[in-house]
Amino acid sequence: MIDRPRMGRILVTEEDIAGAIEELAGAITRDYLHKRLLLVGVLKGSFIFLADLMRALPMEFEVDFLAVSSYGGGTTSSGTVRILKDLDTNIQDRHVLLVEDIVDSGLTLSYLMRMLKARRPASLRLCSLLDKPASRKKEVSIDYLGFTVPSEFLVGYGLDLQEKYRGLPYIATWQG
Ligand code: IMP
Ligand code: MG
Repeated sequence: MIDRPRMGRILVTEEDIAGAIEELAGAITRDYLHKRLLLVGVLKGSFIFLADLMRALPMEFEVDFLAVSSYGGGTTSSGTVRILKDLDTNIQDRHVLLVEDIVDSGLTLSYLMRMLKARRPASLRLCSLLDKPASRKKEVSIDYLGFTVPSEFLVGYGLDLQEKYRGLPYIATWQG
């Protein structure tokens, strides 16, 4: 059973998420309709968001994944980014949209954007479901954003605490 006593309040409901996905998909469709889009999910946190987002996109696209690890199992960023799985796709001259669950310190994303830019894609943008701007250590510009959230530890809809709670259909605060 899910350990509910330590779960805080629900910050983003299932309905909120569905509404944001419709809006994000609309904006992405307008921008990429006639382009060959490659969606890149940052594992593991983004897989549920990406799965819902891609099913709301009416055009053709390809999907690839990167796996990174930046947290040593705790609730604050270690600041170290490790590439656990690189892309299968050559992104040179491709229109790449990186899909992330949350931008917190920005360390992971600024590292990834720099790494991918060096591969000379035709374009590189970032879509993130959540943004915690108050936690930022490195500037990251988010092209498509779902929600701005406070700097509390969050779980659900892909976000984990020590690999748990990713399957919650909503996003809740964690009272650690
Ligand atoms: P950053 O490098 O500090 O921006 O952190 C990026 C990654 O840390 C995100 O992609 C998440 O996977 C993870 N993360 C950041 N904040 C949270 C949170 O509140 N709950 C769960 N994971 C988080
Ligand atoms: Mg992540």
